[in-house]
Amino acid sequence: MLSVALVGAGRIGRIRAGVLRRSPDTRLAVVADTDVSRAEELAREAGAAATSDWGAAVTRPDVDLVVVSTPTKFHAEIAVAALEAGKHVLCEKPLARTVDEARRILQVAQCARRVLKTGFNYRHLAHVRKAKELLSTAALGPLYFLRCRYGHGGRPRYEAEWCTDADLSGGGVLLEQGIHIFDLVRYLLGEPARILAQTRRFFWGFPTVEDNGFCLVQTLAGQEAQVHVSWTQWRNLFHLEIFGHEGYLQLEGRDGHYGPQRLAWGQRKPDHSRPAEQVFEFAAADDSWEVEWREMVSAIQADREPSGSGHDGLRAQQMVEAAYLSSQQRAWITIPKL
Ligand SMILES: NC(=O)c1ccc[n+]([C@@H]2O[C@H](COP(=O)([O-])OP(=O)(O)OC[C@H]3O[C@@H](n4cnc5c(N)ncnc54)[C@H](O)[C@@H]3O)[C@@H](O)[C@H]2O)c1
Repeated sequence: MLSVALVGAGRIGRIRAGVLRRSPDTRLAVVADTDVSRAEELAREAGAAATSDWGAAVTRPDVDLVVVSTPTKFHAEIAVAALEAGKHVLCEKPLARTVDEARRILQVAQCARRVLKTGFNYRHLAHVRKAKELLSTAALGPLYFLRCRYGHGGRPRYEAEWCTDADLSGGGVLLEQGIHIFDLVRYLLGEPARILAQTRRFFWGFPTVEDNGFCLVQTLAGQEAQVHVSWTQWRNLFHLEIFGHEGYLQLEGRDGHYGPQRLAWGQRKPDHSRPAEQVFEFAAADDSWEVEWREMVSAIQADREPSGSGHDGLRAQQMVEAAYLSSQQRAWITIPKL
């Protein structure tokens, strides 16, 4: 049984707390939040301790694993302190505000020989799992390109949320949401080589962050990925396609306002007539958080890197940072090799 400290009892902290409490392998020992009433509310439900002092929570001797679900600005400081105290860490995406901050977390994890996972739950969405399974059987043959449109239209009082302030978030929609898609580009297609991006502030007028990002990514193997992430997608949309020599996959939906998950697998016919499509529909409930948590626990038990590791977090962060640079310089930017 792994004992967990959860730092940041907001929207995602609540989801994580529910999942870890339902797991037979983990128990919630302590919740920390600068707003102690939030920590107390979550802790009460789980019979855990509550504190406003995250430093005390992540160094408790009875804690094995720390979940960091605060605004991004605080990820690096909290994750580093937890790792230095010998704890395993699951840190929400993005791992940090910048590549430098993310690299520091990774270095400390490597020195401390602890498991570091980035909160890339999209890898574990049911339709992404099915896509990965089909790709691993070479169902599409050699892969040509990936195309993704992903976004929402904000929420009432969106302008007051921390993710629209670059000091707290590190970036706008490209970092907050695009990072999931960049991770999927690496996960489903391959290692990126270079990126061309344009960020825009069309509607929200946030002084420091973009509300739309348009990107082209070329992989080392010469494939293309086209990614558009948006906070002006007035009706939520998640739509991701992958095309290969023998056919295509089309993933739609996510959960809630994005609609149920669905995957269509089209197989090219030798005579090039209209492809046959096999459709997989998935249950409305999103189980990606549960599956991700099992992956974290299993990685700790087996002393191995999890899927969506610290390394994966750093690579996706490098893609985002290259995208921002590309938008500034209006040029293709090479994504550094690690
Ligand atoms: N995986 C996903 O799909 C997904 C979705 C949304 C957000 N996130 C990530 O999860 C993290 C949290 O986002 P959220 O939407 O839950 O935010 P939130 O604002 O709902 O919650 C953040 C909580 O952290 C607390 N907090 C702030 N500073 C703190 C500090 N220094 N120490 C302790 N607690 C502190 C706040 O009081 C708040 O309760 C972010 O990194 C975000 O990018 C991930």
